[in-house]
Amino acid sequence: MAHWSENAFPLSVELQSIDAVGQLCSVSYKEPAVFLLWLPNELPLYDYDAIREFSAALHSESIVCVLTTPAQAVRLLPYLETTLKFQLWVAVKTPVVCPSSPTRLPSQHAALLVLSRYRGSLKHTKTRIGYTYCPACGRTTKDYGGKKHVYHEYGTLMSDVWRDIEIDFYSRSGIQPVVDRLRDLFGLSPYRRLYLIETSDFPFVVSEASAIHETLFADYLPAEVDLTSQLVQGDCIDSLRSLPDNSIDFCFADPPYNLRKKYDHWNDDVDSREYFEWCDQWLAELARVLKPGRTLAVLNIPLWAVRHFQFLQNRLQFQNWIVWDALSFPVRMIMPAHYAILCFSKGEPRTLPAYLNIQESQFLEPLAENFCLRPQCQLRRRLKGIHDRGALTDLWYDIHRLKHNSRRVDHPCQLPPALMHRLIAVFTYPGEVVLDCFNGVGTTTLAAQQLGRQFIGIEISEKYHAIALQRHQILSAGGNPFANRAEVPEAKNSPVPRLRKQKYLVSKKTLQLEVKRIAQLLGRLPTREDVAQMGRFPIELYDQYFISWGEVCAAARTTGMSELPPTMQQNQQISLFSE
Ligand SMILES: C[S@@+](CC[C@H](N)C(=O)[O-])C[C@H]1O[C@@H](n2cnc3c(N)ncnc32)[C@H](O)[C@@H]1O
Repeated sequence: MAHWSENAFPLSVELQSIDAVGQLCSVSYKEPAVFLLWLPNELPLYDYDAIREFSAALHSESIVCVLTTPAQAVRLLPYLETTLKFQLWVAVKTPVVCPSSPTRLPSQHAALLVLSRYRGSLKHTKTRIGYTYCPACGRTTKDYGGKKHVYHEYGTLMSDVWRDIEIDFYSRSGIQPVVDRLRDLFGLSPYRRLYLIETSDFPFVVSEASAIHETLFADYLPAEVDLTSQLVQGDCIDSLRSLPDNSIDFCFADPPYNLRKKYDHWNDDVDSREYFEWCDQWLAELARVLKPGRTLAVLNIPLWAVRHFQFLQNRLQFQNWIVWDALSFPVRMIMPAHYAILCFSKGEPRTLPAYLNIQESQFLEPLAENFCLRPQCQLRRRLKGIHDRGALTDLWYDIHRLKHNSRRVDHPCQLPPALMHRLIAVFTYPGEVVLDCFNGVGTTTLAAQQLGRQFIGIEISEKYHAIALQRHQILSAGGNPFANRAEVPEAKNSPVPRLRKQKYLVSKKTLQLEVKRIAQLLGRLPTREDVAQMGRFPIELYDQYFISWGEVCAAARTTGMSELPPTMQQNQQISLFSE
């Protein structure tokens, strides 16, 4: 098993096979328990009502998990949310399923919804996923750099993308890895039992385009307009209204998420109804300007993507739900690590350019799983001719969110250029028009220009618009707008203030290990006063170098790790590079 749950008492599993979903309501469950509804196939709407009724009757501590397709998860969620609190959308890896026509990416994930009868945050055991090791250099797949002392020897805290297991969605034995994980994840008081509920009355098999609608636009001809590349400073809805119908080859949106990010010119903390009404307006405009057969892609957190899906499915045709595992470093009990990139086409999608853009294969062939992203290892693999490429599916795990300040300009949430290069190469051909109505500092339009596409970027903030313009000038003059920079940007992705750049008299690692030593002496995490009295370094250094006391104690809370597999820690490292 690829996970380890601290202090877990694994739940016993009880299988409940029912002939019809309607029977769910006939059994009453008095105890607090965990339920896994396994719904591989599409259900009629009256079954959703039965699931809602069933959930409403559960004990107030119970947990309901639903394993299903992303499209069905979207449809079912509003029914569940009337009586349950949404906690997590976990993307679980499945075998690759190729689409029946080359108009979609192969699918490689199922949705595991986790909801609770209680309103608070999800209670579960601290669960870690074992490290994986690069087959080329033999070191951990993730590069922990100078932070190994603050990680656990077993593995990283679990995230909401489960790629270490693979489930065969259509057989009961195939979903066993999810059952095993849930038994441990919720193996704490007051739970004793996991009910695995399967039904045998599946009327339809889900197709990959399960939300097909006759679209309003399918018969429209592409507009005969010649749009020139441009950056527009202004409100996206106003600007979109000035564009002709059916004129854009690829619409992309990375909107503000209404999660209180500090933008230059935007209130990112409005009432959620207001937020979605606003989203529906620009989504409708994007659907209008999109050419028939082309794709609109929206990036958002999974729960908000559900809402966009519900709006778009009445206008466009569902094409792909791409999971972008943005590869964060673990900070929370279950770390939210992924974004949804919802792809809808206008009418029947055309053959994906991804299958024909041979000359852009460098953007379209992802790294094979478990090869590391260390630049040195990548270079050596290239020199040695080691094949490290995998197949492109709807599960993307090889593109990091921007981690280093040197890669950022002054914007709180820029996307990595590699993500935009891939999306543009998947959905467009050179010369076609790419539109981003939340262009920020220009990641999309710059990537489009680099790949020889026309572009339109709309951005409301004068400041970000000016930065984007300046970066396009760099690109047009033959420079690299994404090159590393020496300056530290002011904008930040989190509300925690950034410490100024400084020279450390004693390294942060040494200070954290000193706190770990004191913790071992005391048998508990030390306070600031403890460290001031017992430590070998002035307490002022801790005040100056760390953002919080939590960071000071990071090494004291864990065991520390090695980047080599346990079997190799004593010996010489073995790798594909060995002669
Ligand atoms: C998530 S950021 C996009 C960042 C962009 N993908 C990048 O990599 O630079 C969202 C952007 O939308 C802009 N924005 C917010 N409201 C807008 C509106 N009504 N019209 C146009 N842009 C808007 C914000 O200023 C912000 O730069």
